[in-house]
Amino acid sequence: VNVSELGTPAIVLDLDRVERNIARMAEKASAASVDLRPHFKTSKLLEVVDMQMAAGAVGMTCATDRELEALLDCGVESVLWAHQAIGRQRLDLAVRANRRADVILAVDSVEVAAALDERASREGIVVPYVIELDTGMHRCGVRPDAAVGLAQELRALSAIELVGVMTHEGHVHHHVGDPAALVATARAAASDLLEAARQCEAAGFALSVTSIGSTPALTTAPIEPGISEVRPGTYTFFDANQVAIGSAGWDDCAVSVLARVVSHNRRGSPVVDAGLKELSGDASNNGGGYGRVVEAGATLAHAYEEHGVLEAGSAGRLAVGDMVRIVPNHVCGAVNMWSRVTVVRGETVIGEWATRGRR
Ligand SMILES: Cc1ncc(COP(=O)(O)O)c(C=O)c1O
Repeated sequence: VNVSELGTPAIVLDLDRVERNIARMAEKASAASVDLRPHFKTSKLLEVVDMQMAAGAVGMTCATDRELEALLDCGVESVLWAHQAIGRQRLDLAVRANRRADVILAVDSVEVAAALDERASREGIVVPYVIELDTGMHRCGVRPDAAVGLAQELRALSAIELVGVMTHEGHVHHHVGDPAALVATARAAASDLLEAARQCEAAGFALSVTSIGSTPALTTAPIEPGISEVRPGTYTFFDANQVAIGSAGWDDCAVSVLARVVSHNRRGSPVVDAGLKELSGDASNNGGGYGRVVEAGATLAHAYEEHGVLEAGSAGRLAVGDMVRIVPNHVCGAVNMWSRVTVVRGETVIGEWATRGRR
């Protein structure tokens, strides 16, 4: 089947591009002698996990409980659960998961650590954890200079074991159009994390993990010596926001939402059969809208649940029935909207893969 014969809307994965993206990041990690632990939230596809592991990944990163379960079900033996595990169900999962695989937990408070320690000691196991650092994104994480203090406070907890420090330097996303500032922010995050690790080691903790991860930093900045592990996710597919920030070109974007023009009643602004439920509502980092129709130089400027309105470029020349490919702003949000993705090589459809671990 040719792509042009597909029903719309559909989400389409270009396998040649995915293979290239996976190979490039694997080369970068291997050239810097760091472990690569890709984030599963981007693909949600076990077939892609297999490709990443075959390319040398040491394991996977995940955010949600469902993602962790999906990874364990497909036999991944080493996972960093990069979220705080609190609440009975998450604590149970953290412990259950560690019976099946090596699952490292992220901790940024005494509360999470104590709950995890209590649950793990009831089970009679020791759970490995990393201290999550806030290097500037202001989400989870303690300030880097507070890591050693937290490590010391948790030293007495015998059912959890400190193995390292991690940060997600997602604040690099602020530097659209300013690669020098992006590189400076990425390097500062890595060096703050390495300094926190040094302080912990000086206090007697033996750390094996110094983990950073974001696609803009890893595609743009060098990997600092001393970093042991990188956790990019979006690099697997790339998207319009990554193109805007300079991580990739349009030809690297491996996932697009296929849509057809269904109405052309307002001159110059064709309506397609893809909207918020196909692309997600994730914001653009570069001028608004919900995605880009690259060939037409157009933006999906307005999105409703199942309708999208194209504007700019040659959008006005599209006719009812014409097919377009929309590169989403943020591919991880878009993939998460779908239960199946259509896999293509060039213009030929070669299969359909089921997404896993969605809520
Ligand atoms: C904890 C953590 N690590 C790694 C990543 C991967 O970052 P990116 O999607 O920029 O590759 C994310 C992304 O949200 C994250 O939250």
